[in-house]
Amino acid sequence: MKKTLNFLVEAKESGRRIACLTAYDFPMAKLLDDADLDFLLVGDSLGMVVLGYPDTTGVRMEDMLHHTRAVARGATKTWIVSDLPAGSYPSPEAGVENSVSLIEAGADAVKIEGGRECLRIVLAIRAAGIPVIGHLGMLPQRVREEGGYHIKGRSEAEAVSLIADAKALDEAGVSAVVLELVHPPVAEKISRSINIPTIGIGSGPSCDGQILVLHDVIGLFPWFRPRFAKARADLAAEVTRSAAEFVAATRAGEQG
Ligand code: KIV
Repeated sequence: MKKTLNFLVEAKESGRRIACLTAYDFPMAKLLDDADLDFLLVGDSLGMVVLGYPDTTGVRMEDMLHHTRAVARGATKTWIVSDLPAGSYPSPEAGVENSVSLIEAGADAVKIEGGRECLRIVLAIRAAGIPVIGHLGMLPQRVREEGGYHIKGRSEAEAVSLIADAKALDEAGVSAVVLELVHPPVAEKISRSINIPTIGIGSGPSCDGQILVLHDVIGLFPWFRPRFAKARADLAAEVTRSAAEFVAATRAGEQG
């Protein structure tokens, strides 16, 4: 049976650190379902690590629905969060409609990038009864406007704004907030100032938990790995090695 929504707040209260990874397809979701993760994120990072786009801005609702359905077929015990992709929440109505579609595809919650500027949308999705995860700091859907992946919160103005965004999301009823590339002292301050858990990615050890892209952790995307992500396996090398072994065996007349 799946956990209820309270598990995130309970984790924060008890100090148990939250551990999450992304998942994009059936076999990985099925394998990860046995790893005791707090939730699986069908991240729009699938644009990069699965579809080969340069960033997440080209990911569309149809991609998210397709991959959410696959993950939901594989993970029956673990909470599934799906990203609302770029351009899918121009208004509260569109945000709700697309969130409902993700829930119908098998997600338990949706994640949305942005702070106070997205509050009306977050409130509408919450009013529709859908759990929401926030996402602050570096926002990959805005990477083109921002000219790259930069650490957020180094200046006093940015830090103040991030803290206000996190408090606003907490008050709006989001279940947790992802902090991506947030200057670690600011991530720590946010984590202490809000009631919901912070889940860091490249934001230092003081967040209430950590989320990483699966491919970075299992070494399945060797062309780029962020410096904050530790590869705990080298599946890319195994794929090439086993395929090359198969080629050699076949050419030598072997079967199987
Ligand atoms: O799309 C994604 O994978 C994310 C991260 C938080 C890892 O948003």
